[in-house]
Amino acid sequence: MTTVGSSAAYRRQIDRRMGVADPATLHGSLSAGRRLRDAEPADQDMAPVPLRLLPDTAEVAPGDSLSIGGVDVATVAEAVGTPVFIYDEAHLRSRCREARRAFGDGVSFASKAFLCRAMARIAHDEGMMIDVASGGELYVALRAGVPPERLVLHGSNKSTDELVLALDVGIGRIVVDSFDEIERVNLLLGRVAPATRPRVLVRVNPGVEVSTHASIATGREDSKFGFSLASGAAAEAVNLLASRHSPVDLVGLHTHIGSQIFDLSAFGRTIDSLAPLVVTTGLTELCVGGGLGVAYTGDQKEPPTLTEWATAMRHACRVAGIPDSVRITAEPGRAVAATAAVTCYRIGAIKSVPLPSTDGVRTYVSVDGGMSDNLRPALYDSRYEAFLPRAVTAPRPFAVTVAGKHCESGDILVRNGHLPQDVAVGDLLATPVTGAYGYAMASNYNKLLRPPVVFVGDGRYRTVTRRETVEDLLGLDVDEPALSHCVP
Ligand SMILES: Cc1ncc(COP(=O)(O)O)c(C=O)c1O
Repeated sequence: MTTVGSSAAYRRQIDRRMGVADPATLHGSLSAGRRLRDAEPADQDMAPVPLRLLPDTAEVAPGDSLSIGGVDVATVAEAVGTPVFIYDEAHLRSRCREARRAFGDGVSFASKAFLCRAMARIAHDEGMMIDVASGGELYVALRAGVPPERLVLHGSNKSTDELVLALDVGIGRIVVDSFDEIERVNLLLGRVAPATRPRVLVRVNPGVEVSTHASIATGREDSKFGFSLASGAAAEAVNLLASRHSPVDLVGLHTHIGSQIFDLSAFGRTIDSLAPLVVTTGLTELCVGGGLGVAYTGDQKEPPTLTEWATAMRHACRVAGIPDSVRITAEPGRAVAATAAVTCYRIGAIKSVPLPSTDGVRTYVSVDGGMSDNLRPALYDSRYEAFLPRAVTAPRPFAVTVAGKHCESGDILVRNGHLPQDVAVGDLLATPVTGAYGYAMASNYNKLLRPPVVFVGDGRYRTVTRRETVEDLLGLDVDEPALSHCVP
């Protein structure tokens, strides 16, 4: 008799039930097209998904289906199941190359936006350094083969273990964030002999307000990040680290004012504030952080390009009196990775509910992922588009709410979505611009399995991060301790 846990076939069966879609069982069944047609049509001229939100190599193939990197998206979804993150490798490489060209050596990819070994290798191959914000990110980047001197360590509360690892391997830069950290680094350097004298930057909080969501605004006065410029803490940190007795090599200043920024003048104001400290101290590097925005929906304007951002930063530095010899760097995450990916889900239920307050109807389209693969709508009220990869240029006349499968009313992926009239259960549904802070923030909430990451390009696809299995869900559990281990 087969016992649970010992049979691979049984596990596969459970895997399928737990989220590895078996498309064959869904396609063509349970069509809910009729129910949707009963729902109230929204704007009948609702436009197709704007193609500018799709990755660079996205094409509408004959029959109106979506291909990316020369690969039919539906074929990938059939092969690896849903949900799945599909990344355009050429898009990632092109943004990394552009960042490197625009800023020069020293520009980093902010790995918090999206990290796996394949991504780290791409950023490194294309000439970027990599910014890591924890020992875990540092470990993954090192295991990807990125040389330690091409890594920059961030974090507002770096642990002793994280600092020891960074010092041991000879990390390229450490961005110090507090007086406690300075003390910790000094103490550690009294005990360990690093391969090289550590190069550090001081993270400065310039006290600049930016127009973005409060949770991703990091440069205003009331912030946990960095040393305050206004209070004099930044200058004090610079003096400490530049002193004759300091065991580190202070090379520059760092700042990061927030994320999803479209208005470059906020960066300009930041540079104006930092310029006196850069000039008087004679430091040779200034990193303006990340934060360049991307458009997530058709009604959002196009943000500046990485090239325009770099040009504006150099101009602002010149105007502020910062010498040309100072190396101006940045660390974009979202602007590199966000538009490179789409997430593909399978629709499992469609439900229209009456809205008594308006006499209208809301149609919930439920997909097989949710806040565990895209937390941004729940965390920041972020807005997304939805479309059907089989009908890319079709009008989307029906107003829908795309819901995830978690036990949370707030598990809504797309609040004001629109889809073609004939959408049905079993269809693939895609959300564009999910390449940054999607997989990176993914969780196992409700014990959902984190989706795979697939890279496409040159007519081929490869899975770079596999889908979790139910066995992975047990991987960290420790068996009940034997009584002998208990305190008597
Ligand atoms: C210090 C730092 N650098 C860079 C980034 C990347 O920002 P973005 O992805 O908006 O470019 C972040 C994001 O939180 C950050 O905290």
